[in-house]
This record gives sequence, structure tokens and C-alpha cells, in this order.
Amino acid sequence: MGIFWIWITTIVCAAAALLHMYMKKKKKLPPGPKGLPVLGHLHMLSKNPHQDLERMAKQHGPIMYLQFGFVPNIIVSSAKAAELFLKTYDLVFASRPPHQASKYLSWDQKNLAFGKYGAYWRNMRKLCTLELLSNLKINSFQPMRREELGRFVEAVKQKSQGGTVAVDLSAMVSSLAADMSCWMVFGKKYEDKDIDERGFRFVIQEGMKLAALPNLGDYFPLLGILDLQGMKKRMKAVAKVFDDFFERVIDDHVKAGDRGQVKDIVDTMMSIMESGDAEFHFDRGHVKAIMLDMLSASMDTAASTIEWALSRLLQNPEAMKKVQQELEEVVGLERKVEESDLEKLKFLDMVVKETFRLHPVAPLLLPHYSMEDCTVGGYYIPKDSRIIVNARAIGRDPNSWSDPEKFIPERFVGRDIDVRGQHFELIPFGSGRRGCPGLQLGLIQVRLIVAQLVHCFDLKLPDGMFPEELDMTEEFGLVVARAKHLLAVPKFRLKFNGTVMNE
Ligand code: HEM
Repeated sequence: MGIFWIWITTIVCAAAALLHMYMKKKKKLPPGPKGLPVLGHLHMLSKNPHQDLERMAKQHGPIMYLQFGFVPNIIVSSAKAAELFLKTYDLVFASRPPHQASKYLSWDQKNLAFGKYGAYWRNMRKLCTLELLSNLKINSFQPMRREELGRFVEAVKQKSQGGTVAVDLSAMVSSLAADMSCWMVFGKKYEDKDIDERGFRFVIQEGMKLAALPNLGDYFPLLGILDLQGMKKRMKAVAKVFDDFFERVIDDHVKAGDRGQVKDIVDTMMSIMESGDAEFHFDRGHVKAIMLDMLSASMDTAASTIEWALSRLLQNPEAMKKVQQELEEVVGLERKVEESDLEKLKFLDMVVKETFRLHPVAPLLLPHYSMEDCTVGGYYIPKDSRIIVNARAIGRDPNSWSDPEKFIPERFVGRDIDVRGQHFELIPFGSGRRGCPGLQLGLIQVRLIVAQLVHCFDLKLPDGMFPEELDMTEEFGLVVARAKHLLAVPKFRLKFNGTVMNE
């Protein structure tokens, strides 16, 4: 009898082992290039990973598997595949991977952008969409945007000295976007030296760079402890700068007391904190984490998109002329552009869409994370994989777009495609649960600033440069900006003295 049971047990175990092997074999991972032992595919990434991934996907397909150290990565590079990950199976992939940057730069994942999917993130997201980024809130900052833009036009006019001198548009637009973000978040402008002797943008960009650069500590936990790249040290240093500065901002708001009519974002969060109305524990750490989210998400994204749009227009004088003609018809040369004009500027809208298609400024969105095993498009996607959606590759996919490398705003005539996450061939703001909650504000800023600049000024490349000579090299980060600043000679073209009419 004993022998009988030993035989039965052996047969059952063997069958289970065979079944396991069979199932494992059946779990077909997505295709990908051959990797190295231990490193996996890390060595295949250069300083422009979005372009490397686009090249590799052309060879291995729209759902590709890469291993970075111990971490599995799924690279998504077509509209159809993006729809599967961000819509059909959105819930499975709605989390963010754990990474060192989120630990050190976001008060231990207290923020929205790096937050793990769960009740806390859902509440935080609700608070941000309903209280901080609602249409009502965005509209309450309209007078501030008008005033800042008025000052900006004056500054460009002064610097160009009657249209004779080249102006650094990249620097000026980035400064305008930073000022607008400061007003919105803090309720006042801060000077560079208020945060650190290296200045505001430097510190924000250092944080963004540290969050985007491949960090060995994320892929090999042991190396994280040794910090061979020195990233942890840099993260801690920049986090301290943010923390000290944000503490001062909160103290200033506490001292100021009455929050008045137009509440800035810190005011709104302080009211929520003091009222105890939040559906979760909400303290100064949360206020600081959201402050950083709002600042970093709004400053560079809009400014870089505007840079790319102006670069493309300078490369395509025909398109520039068409935008100006439309502005002349809708606005006229006797006044500046108002936000209420934007709805009527259809060609400008196409220019902005075409810019987003070629230059989604967050080309790899933010990484998503699989919360359970899943089968997508016939491939096995293991739990705890990073999902990287390559929005730039999707925007340039010849299966979705004809002449994909060319800037042709007219391609949108009669086509019902927008950037709001419903049309997966164009997803500069992502889509689904993790899609950008600041989309509306981002679109207003981009359209308004491009429209105002092109309406108020004739822009020319400096030193007789031909359009095709303009350097379009990209610099990778969480936000991809121009590697070289955009210079142009602006000549004021309105028929009034711009300082008085709109104010
Ligand atoms: C041109 C402007 C902008 C672009 C192109 C942009 C793009 C994006 C992208 C691609 C994502 C990631 C989506 C994903 O992972 O699937 C994102 C997330 C986010 N964006 Fe934006 N964004 C812009 C402006 C803004 C503004 C103005 C704000 C707020 C002030 C903002 C706040 C956020 C936040 C908080 C997240 C994280 C959402 C989450 O993880 O739940 N963005 N944005």
C-alpha cells in the first residue's frame, strides 16, 4: 500500500512539473533584442533613450520586451498597442513603478505623479482635478496670464530694439512660463535667489533630470545602496533645497492669514488641510509634494512645447504666414490676442497638434507599472513590469501618419483627431486613469503664448540663417527640450502701442 502511494505522489508531482513547464513555455513574452547577462539591455540606451527605443521597436514590433538589470520593461510603440495598455487593460497598468527618485524627490511617493495606484492616489487625484485644476480655478488665473503676457510682449519688444536684434526666445518663454506657474501655485513671483543661488529653473530641471536619467540603483538594488553614480546624493541635496523653500512658502501663507478672493494653489491646499475635509490624512508633507508636482509639471512642459512650435513655424514660413493671416482675420491688428479668441483659431490649433505629434515633450509619458500578470495582444506581461509608452514613436508611426517626419498642420483638416487621449495615434498627454490632469491648462498656455508672439511680431531667424539650417537636436529629460536655445529677430507688427490697449 505504501509503495502505491509513493508511486501516485511521484506521478502527480511529475505531471504538475510538466504542466508548469508547459504553461511557462506557453507564456510568450513579447519579442525583443538579445540582451547581455546581468545588464540585460541597459547598454543599448544612449543619452536619447526615446530615440533608441523607437529604432529598436521598428525591428522588434510595437510591443517589445527589454530587461534592465532585474527589471522587466515593456515598450509600447503603436496606437493600437497603446490603446490596449491605456484603455482596454488600463486598470492593470495604472500604477507607477517604485524608483529612487520618487522616494527622495516626492516626500516618499506622497505626490500624484509618482504615486502608487490605490485609495490614497485616487483621493489625491480627485482633490487635484476638482480643487486645483478645475475650469473655474484655471479661469480665475486668466487676469494674471494676461498681465504677465503683456509684460512679456513689452520685454521682447525692448530687447529686439525695433526688430534689429536677435532675442533668446527659449530663455524668455521659459521665464514667462516659470512666472505664470509661480503666480498660480504660490500667489506671487519669487526671484531666482529665493530658492537657491543657482536659481529656480536650474533646481527644477535638476530634479526632472534626476527623475528621468537611467539610475542603476533602480535596476540593481544592491548598487542603490552603494550609489555609484552619485544620484542618491544629488537627489537628497535637491530635495533639501525644495523642502526648505516650500517650508518658507507655507510659513508665508500662514502669516498672510486671510486667503482673499483669488486663492493660489497653496492657499487652496492649506484650506483643505486646516478644514480636515480631505478624505485622507493631509499634512504639510502632502502640501509640499503637490507643490512640486504642480510646479514641475507646468513649467517645462508648456515652455518646451512653445519652443518646438515656434521652431517649426520658423522652419515653415508658409505655415507662419497662415497663422498670422488667421490672427488678422479673427483678432485684427488693432489689439492683442485674448483667451476668448482661442476657440476661433482653427489653424493655430492644427499647428499645436502637429507640434505635439512631432514633439510630445514627455515622449515616454511617465512610466506605468503592471499590478498583476496579464496577457496583452497575445503576449505575457509579468506583474511588476515597467510599461513605457513611446508617444514620440507613435506620433511618427508611418502606419498612422503619411510623411510622418514632415510638419504639415493641414493634415488635420477634416480629421476628427485631438490630443485629449481618445485618439491613440496622438497622445502627448497620455490617456486613461493616469492621463494628464493639467491638459486644459497646458493647452491654454501653449495656444495663448504662441498666438500672442506670432500675432505681435514678425519672427525671423538670425544672421540670414536658412530655415533648414535650424538645429533641431533634442535634449532628453522627463521633458525633452531643444538642445540649443532658439534665437529669432522679432519685429513688432501691430498697429498700436501695445502697452495701452489691452490693459
Ligand atoms: C503642454 C503641457 C503638458 C503636457 C504635454 C503634459 C503631459 C503629461 C503626460 C504625458 C503625463 C503622463 C501621462 C501618463 O503617464 O500616462 C502627465 C501627467 C501629469 N501631469 Fe501633465 N502635461 C502638461 C501640463 C501639465 C500641467 C499644466 C499640470 C498641472 C499644473 C500637469 C500636471 C500633471 C500631473 C499631476 C500628472 C500626473 C498624473 C498622475 O500620475 O495621475 N501637467 N502630463
